Amino acid sequence: MSKDTFDPTKYNNSNNEPFAAVMERELSRRSILRAGMGMAAVGMLSGVGLAGCSSSATSSMTHSAGSTGAKVKLGFDSIAGAKLDAVVVPKGYSAQVLAPWGTPLNDLAQEWRTDGANTALDQANSLGMHHDGMHYFPLNGSSTDGLLCINHEYIDQKALHPTGPTKDSNSLRTILDEVRKEINAHGVTVVRVQQTNGMWDVVKNDSHNRRFTGATTMNISGPVANKALLETPFSPAGDKVRGTLNNCGNGYTPWGTYLTCEENWPGYFVNTGTQTADQSRIGIDANNTRYGWDDLAGNAAEIDDEFKRFDITEMGKDATEDYRNEANGHGYIVEINPYDNSTSAVKRTALGRFRHEGCVFGQVVEGKPIVFYSGHDSRFEYIYKFVSDVNWHAADAGRDDRLAVGAKYMDQGTLFVARFDDNGVGVWLPLTMDSTTTQGGTLADTFSSLAGIILNTAGAADLVGATPMDRPEWAAVDPVNGAVYMTLTNNTKRTTETNAANPRLNNSTGHIIRWQEGDNATQFSWDIFVFGAAEDASPEVNISGLAELNQFASPDGLAFDARGIMWMQTDNGAPELTEYTNDQMLAVVPSQLTTDSGELDTINSSNQTELKRFFVGPNGAEVTGLAFSPAQTDLFLNVQHPANWPYSNDATMATPSHKAVRPRAATVIIRKNDGGEVGI
Ligand code: FEO
Ligand code: CA
Ligand code: CA
Ligand code: CA
Repeated sequence: MSKDTFDPTKYNNSNNEPFAAVMERELSRRSILRAGMGMAAVGMLSGVGLAGCSSSATSSMTHSAGSTGAKVKLGFDSIAGAKLDAVVVPKGYSAQVLAPWGTPLNDLAQEWRTDGANTALDQANSLGMHHDGMHYFPLNGSSTDGLLCINHEYIDQKALHPTGPTKDSNSLRTILDEVRKEINAHGVTVVRVQQTNGMWDVVKNDSHNRRFTGATTMNISGPVANKALLETPFSPAGDKVRGTLNNCGNGYTPWGTYLTCEENWPGYFVNTGTQTADQSRIGIDANNTRYGWDDLAGNAAEIDDEFKRFDITEMGKDATEDYRNEANGHGYIVEINPYDNSTSAVKRTALGRFRHEGCVFGQVVEGKPIVFYSGHDSRFEYIYKFVSDVNWHAADAGRDDRLAVGAKYMDQGTLFVARFDDNGVGVWLPLTMDSTTTQGGTLADTFSSLAGIILNTAGAADLVGATPMDRPEWAAVDPVNGAVYMTLTNNTKRTTETNAANPRLNNSTGHIIRWQEGDNATQFSWDIFVFGAAEDASPEVNISGLAELNQFASPDGLAFDARGIMWMQTDNGAPELTEYTNDQMLAVVPSQLTTDSGELDTINSSNQTELKRFFVGPNGAEVTGLAFSPAQTDLFLNVQHPANWPYSNDATMATPSHKAVRPRAATVIIRKNDGGEVGI
């Protein structure tokens, strides 16, 4: 999310802070790690029993990361920071612009216009705005022919329209087509792309091409899928919801579907009356919607309450007469089958309702449950995991009815929230009716059903004593050893209370936390992999000993490729780093960072050169979203909200200083000039 437009207000007013003298203890624990004891050793010391994991195939590698870890070695030199209207890649690489905002998917759309005059219909049939999470789905296993699924997080109204949004003297929206265009610029794009002679193109009019927008009708499944919670005048049966909004990070599944994550959706709705507990906990606005879409409610040309639905104030006698339930259909992980254009998107409510940043599955093991991790990106919010009721059968990965497989693994299961204790041990706290609260009761004292818990996931997590984090963003799972990494982007409002997992006050530069699952579903061990910082920050801030060529702030996008390289993207507004560089992407092979005793190590001054800067984005932009071709020869990333870019199809070509272009978020594809694997 843009640092320019998003204030992740502290909605969490709970007091989950049992760590009075925590800083002192945290410092002593870190000195243990510095003495050479990795997280596995901490786990054993604390009795969590990571050692017990060695009996399972999945975690044996965890304990010998040095010998059986990824053999891959980064083969590029870390690049300097940059502040250009262009992207920068290492020597020997090229970068191409593909599928910028407004690229037509089919002949129903006019070509994108430099004057901003494209219509709502054009937008519904073209790439959306502000690309974010992304995945490449190969066709027939190909690395030159596949489907890109791209999230569109939010919009820049100034760039979207010829001269910005049109408003009357009361600052109310007046033009229906403008508002429809804005709604259509949100959501997800599925687009076929092909590579010929090293250059990629969109395949216009391909049958896979389609848009899911802020207005597309979708299905909803899991605990919240019942009439009492979802009935609206548009959907009397409560079985349909309209639109997916603020699609930030993403995920995908072992069975070949795309997951899009609804992040800052509460701001699109308004309740000017009495808010429900879940609405006030999550931050539904009491006065305005983000872009004023509800201004046109009741307009004579309005269709199916397309604008009215954003006002969720109770006005009628019940849900047949107003949109009090509309927002109950938002805040979820949404599953899309990109391979079958006859299928609808499905909102999987069992994975919780909050400001989902991303969603990643843990190590997949035949006969064990499927696990998904997702962070809630606001200050002092939590980290969650979902564990399926049924165990994985690898044959399901080959089924064509992918959404039926999704229903099997994502509609029934248990949602947990993380508590990070200050000895390197963590506990996954279940969010079920019989879960014990910190007050000694159960969640059944507050909630009447699992659906109620899901609807107010964060409120339930408050009651069980979850650990408030510094804005959880993306998670990624190391294919070598199953360790889970999550970015905690920053939290400058942490002014008085730290905890072991969030140990810096005024955390303007963020950190990456890491954990490994323990013997059972409720135990884990954790440490902090790296702290973002400017190279010249004090040692108390630059704890990882970063230097000029890898200093970073506000880690956000995060993914492992199939070889065990972890790629980390930034969305930074902290002046400590903006003075040096635009947003960037770095790479490291965590499984190769080991201590003398062979345990996983954290980044520190003796190994920090293994963290290398690979990419720098253009002025004003955030670098976010990441995908690889199966052959690892093509790296796709997204450049979101650039200031004055792109100027040409060559992403590295700077916009001439005297020119102003209408900025367009775009996918950038990075290839090695010799066609080899990226990164090595
Ligand atoms: Fe949309 Fe938390 O970034
Ligand atoms: Ca961010
Ligand atoms: Ca973003
Ligand atoms: Ca993000």
